[in-house]
Amino acid sequence: MELKVNNCRVCSTSIKPFMTFGKMPIANGFLTAEQFKGEYYFELAPAFCNKCGMLQLIEQPEPEMMFHENYAFFSSLSKHMQIHFRDFANQVKNRVLKDCEDPFVVELGSNDGIMLGNFKDDGIHHLGIEPSENVADVARSKGIQTVSEFFNLKLAEQIVADHGHADVVLSANVMCHIPDINSVAEGISLLLKSDGMLIFEDPYLGDMLIKTSYDQIYDEHVFIFSATSVAWLFGQHGLELIDVLPQLTHGGSMRYVLAPKGSHPISENVGNIFIREREQGLDKAETYDLFRKNCEASKERLVNLLKEEKKVGRRVVGYGATSKSTTILNYCGIGPSLIEFISDTTPLKQGKFSPGMHIPVKPYETFTENYPDTALLLAWNHQTEIMEKEKGFTEHGGRWLSPLPEEKSKT
Ligand code: SAH
Ligand code: TMP
Ligand code: ZN
Repeated sequence: MELKVNNCRVCSTSIKPFMTFGKMPIANGFLTAEQFKGEYYFELAPAFCNKCGMLQLIEQPEPEMMFHENYAFFSSLSKHMQIHFRDFANQVKNRVLKDCEDPFVVELGSNDGIMLGNFKDDGIHHLGIEPSENVADVARSKGIQTVSEFFNLKLAEQIVADHGHADVVLSANVMCHIPDINSVAEGISLLLKSDGMLIFEDPYLGDMLIKTSYDQIYDEHVFIFSATSVAWLFGQHGLELIDVLPQLTHGGSMRYVLAPKGSHPISENVGNIFIREREQGLDKAETYDLFRKNCEASKERLVNLLKEEKKVGRRVVGYGATSKSTTILNYCGIGPSLIEFISDTTPLKQGKFSPGMHIPVKPYETFTENYPDTALLLAWNHQTEIMEKEKGFTEHGGRWLSPLPEEKSKT
């Protein structure tokens, strides 16, 4: 798959970006001062395909530049996501696997085993596919069977040869990362039993447009899916959409359930969401033009708010060095002159600098030991968990600032 495309990555129709966020570094590329000079940049520009409905980046760095042995995102650091994946796994066990004899579950992008641990604990035959070695090692240390490779058609053939066909293929916040999506869809189609199911979730286009949560757009997210585009894509490979289940995670996600054509009944949720997506204008160029204007207004608001904080002498600190925040900070041009440091609980990010804008990332204790006046909630997608944890800051008189204007879905 080419890094920069002029044609849709799904259906090959010619596409053009409807806006650009400018030059961007690797979103999870936290770096040392010595690495500033060689920092990699690409143009972050989304395009919409009016044939298959897929929103996608026209340029994406090589997967190996993003997913490697120093990958900075460890899923299990969030307590709420642990609960989310326990519930997700329970639903799969109770609704899908209950009648299967010796079921086999495959997960793409299994990271540190946050989901598969729930299957392993029940002695269920499982396999995680996780190309980032360091997070895969964490999963392996918990006894979760994991292969460190990129999933594609070739790997699917290998899995079938080694383990047989799968009852369920799962993934969360992974499918939208993979540029060579047709090879992945073909591989899943081959891997599944004739009555198997593919169940995956990713940030949802409808939520992103309503909330102007443009920080969903960053290097790893080569696609932002809708039910319409998912049905089109997998329909090319013999799989049909049989259900959709909205999720509150990551600022508004959608869980898609797919199965080999004709093997399972189709929920009425599917027809309903297609209608809603048309009503929301997901198929219209004007919708994306409005999104661009909303992004510009959002940027102006945030920069003005931070300049005002600075003017009145308040100390501002960023909370959560998320991958999403790389888009916000670089698009808005927010650097160390406006934000003193970013507090983050991930050891691998601490002591480094944020990609592009080079704001120092410091351990969480640096935040609690000397509270700032204002915290910019860059990890707004973990708002509920953070608000519960940070009562002390609020009681101390600390103020929260949201990087995006509207009230967001909570996780
Ligand atoms: N499922 C976890 C992790 C999401 S992060 C969660 O929801 O928290 C995305 C993960 O997908 C990373 O760990 C990355 O290494 C992995 N990934 C990227 N490309 C992949 C591919 N082609 N096949 C399988 N996993 C991939
Ligand atoms: P994410 O938005 O990609 O899930 O990343 C969340 C980041 O926020 C991750 O680097 C860990 C950090 N974080 C904190 O620092 N404190 C917290 O309480 C939570 C939930 C996350
Ligand atoms: Zn297309």
